[in-house]
Amino acid sequence: MAICTAVLPVAGLGTRFLPITKSIPKEMLPVVDQPLIQYVVEEAWSAGIEQVVLVSSRGKTSLEDHFDSNAELESALDAKGKQESLAAVRGLTPPDGRTICAVRQHAPLGLGHAVLCARAIVGNNPFAVLLPDDLIWTGDSAPGVLSQLVEQFEKSASSVVAVMEVEQSQTCLYGVIDPFDSEIDSRERLIKAKGLVEKPKPDSAPSNLAVVGRYILTPEIFNFLSTGNKGAGGEIQLTDAICALLAQQSVYGYRFEGVRFDCGDKAGYQMANIALSLERPDMREQLIPFIKEQLLNYSAE
Ligand code: G1P
Repeated sequence: MAICTAVLPVAGLGTRFLPITKSIPKEMLPVVDQPLIQYVVEEAWSAGIEQVVLVSSRGKTSLEDHFDSNAELESALDAKGKQESLAAVRGLTPPDGRTICAVRQHAPLGLGHAVLCARAIVGNNPFAVLLPDDLIWTGDSAPGVLSQLVEQFEKSASSVVAVMEVEQSQTCLYGVIDPFDSEIDSRERLIKAKGLVEKPKPDSAPSNLAVVGRYILTPEIFNFLSTGNKGAGGEIQLTDAICALLAQQSVYGYRFEGVRFDCGDKAGYQMANIALSLERPDMREQLIPFIKEQLLNYSAE
């Protein structure tokens, strides 16, 4: 069964990025010249998603505006002969037959609750969840991470979540997979899960395989999300619902190909900007000598 709908939770207040996020949604922060939200929406389109559902909140309409047409801007660019910019602006509207819509999460009850808010739109179908904080760069070397997960789902028809190895000390920042096989070959990409734990302390984490923000879930997940059970941080956790789903269905972790930047963190966000700027041929020439000079200043300290 094809994955047609992607749910993007974007209702958070972005407090870690204050003061900028007082008036600008976190998901609109730029990495080079595109807002974070654009990276995930484009990843969704390229994975064949037909409908993107933003689970949003007050003050976030700029997210929807970003993907809407803007006749005034387009005609001004056209009149000035700025064809490249015009193409970039026009390219933001959903491709033919695709849509972006928004639902509201009225209270900040957690990631699991945010996903539950999209239930009526998703219906009884498997669907994707993408967290815009996680920018995963694959460049030309691999398809986007969601496409990688879709390929796995097509083989197994089971829920699958993107995972990567983290330092043991970092497990408390992530959902962590308890692998079915205690011995996992480090080259193995698909890992069957026995359990999942949200933000375990390093000494009690079942592994160092952390879930990052890409999921394909079967619709039965909604039965577990709707129980309203609260987990880590007193929130309705998506990780807990996936763990509960395991009693009925198989769930896999997929060690994806790509580099993940944690753009929910100030340092991770800057790393994404540096790395992706260096990918741009028009900026690289200026940036490399500048970065080298900066590094020399610091190593002299
Ligand atoms: C959320 C999830 C967590 C996952 C992480 C990936 O946590 O709850 O399971 O590992 O995203 O970025 P958050 O970073 O929102 O606290």
